Amino acid sequence: MVFSPGTVAHAVLNATSSALMVVDPQARIFFVNHTAEKLFGISAAKVKGGPLNAALSDPVVAAAIASLVARVSRGEQDFQVDSKLKDAAGNLRHIKWDVLPLAHRDLPDIMALLVGRDVTRQIAAEEALRRSEARLRALVDTAVDAIITIDDHGKIESVNPAAEKMFGYTAAEMLGKGVEMLMPEPYRGEHHAYLSNYLHTGKRRVIGIGREVTGQRRDGSLFPMYLSVGEQTVDGRRYFTGIVRDITNVKRMEVEVLEISEREQQRIGQDLHDGLGQLLTGAAFMTKAMAGRLEKLNPSMALEMQSITQIMNDCIRQSRELARGLQPVSEAADLPTALAQMATQVENLFQGVVCRVQSAALPPEVPVGVATHLYRIAQEAVGNAVRHGQARHIELSLRTLGPAVRLMIRDDGKGIAARDGDGMGLKTMSYRARAIGGHFDIRSTPGHGTMVICSIGWPDTVEKEAR
Ligand SMILES: Nc1ncnc2c1ncn2[C@@H]1O[C@H](COP(=O)(O)OP(=O)(O)OP(=O)(O)O)[C@@H](O)[C@H]1O
Ligand SMILES: [Mg+2]
Repeated sequence: MVFSPGTVAHAVLNATSSALMVVDPQARIFFVNHTAEKLFGISAAKVKGGPLNAALSDPVVAAAIASLVARVSRGEQDFQVDSKLKDAAGNLRHIKWDVLPLAHRDLPDIMALLVGRDVTRQIAAEEALRRSEARLRALVDTAVDAIITIDDHGKIESVNPAAEKMFGYTAAEMLGKGVEMLMPEPYRGEHHAYLSNYLHTGKRRVIGIGREVTGQRRDGSLFPMYLSVGEQTVDGRRYFTGIVRDITNVKRMEVEVLEISEREQQRIGQDLHDGLGQLLTGAAFMTKAMAGRLEKLNPSMALEMQSITQIMNDCIRQSRELARGLQPVSEAADLPTALAQMATQVENLFQGVVCRVQSAALPPEVPVGVATHLYRIAQEAVGNAVRHGQARHIELSLRTLGPAVRLMIRDDGKGIAARDGDGMGLKTMSYRARAIGGHFDIRSTPGHGTMVICSIGWPDTVEKEAR
């Protein structure tokens, strides 16, 4: 079979996905391909020789294209124009037109080639993307949490308004700077090494986990925040998005809850001691006197009365113990005694456990609340040492240095292997330490015991010596 170049060209024109039309300088239709026929629901035979609006549903669009055709045929360059036209089914479609000059020695004038591409789907996709971006933008812009993106060098790429408000910097002051500007020392100095260490080794500390950290505002003030970090790769580069929640109020609430429960316990302890305890003491006194009087009159009843007295005394002892448990320290000066009592109790309760106490008297200005928190920290740490560490030796030390105080509980147990369990103890100890303006630290090496430290105003240098 032999194809003439004209036949091939015709086949190509009809096979293309663009609507093609050739028009003369007056925009009279000269040629229409199959795609255009199908798209606009027209017949080439019917529209040939007719005006553009015989093919295009919108006369305004037809007129606009006709005027561009006139300019092209006068020798101007090609043009582009966007239009909305009805298709064969009557649906509006977005068509992008190229209006191109078409000169040929066989043609009397410079004609125009109209190339129409149906971009309806593409535009709809772009619009959907724009809408979803706008929604995301709105979400980020109105979020209460600060959202900060950094690149793989730790440089701030983007911040939302909440981040500006939370840290007190404007976006312009943060963009392009190292994110460590938002943290206090020692994290500020360590962040870069941490990030590059993560990029090289994949070892995570915050990424994908989330944790409580300390933030630093522009004015230097510090605040507790919950930080969660996600990672994403864009065009082969890694970026990190941090979502930061200011948890100052949550922390304050935690401290208050702790104080309320402490106060409530103290009240119950006092009521138990002063109310029930006194009544029982009175009753025991009476039964004892009664037993004395019965001794001669009715010896067997006297014996029964003595056993009642015994029971009454047990009740008194138990209510005292309960009261002491609820209110272990009634004055700050009592703390060394209370700690010593706790140690004795532990040794009595757990055979083979040695619990030694070394304690100094607290400075006189220390409030009883502080002493109670210190006692509860020691109680929890000792409890953990026995229960989880199976420790044989526990050492309690309470040291003071001027107004500074340092409580340490060291055990020789098996140590904390991983931060397992959903216990409240470690968290509560740390809240208690914060509640009294102290610093909480827990050091543990598996197999080598655990050391819990709570220090208030303890100088760093002395702290280091103690390690
Ligand atoms: N001194 C210790 N020796 C060994 N493991 C410890 C010690 N202290 C804590 N742990 C480990 O840490 C976990 C958490 O301790 P935490 O005091 O928070 O919770 P808990 O004691 O399990 O429960 P709770 O204190 O609420 O009764 C423990 O379950 C234990 O595995
Ligand atoms: Mg515990």
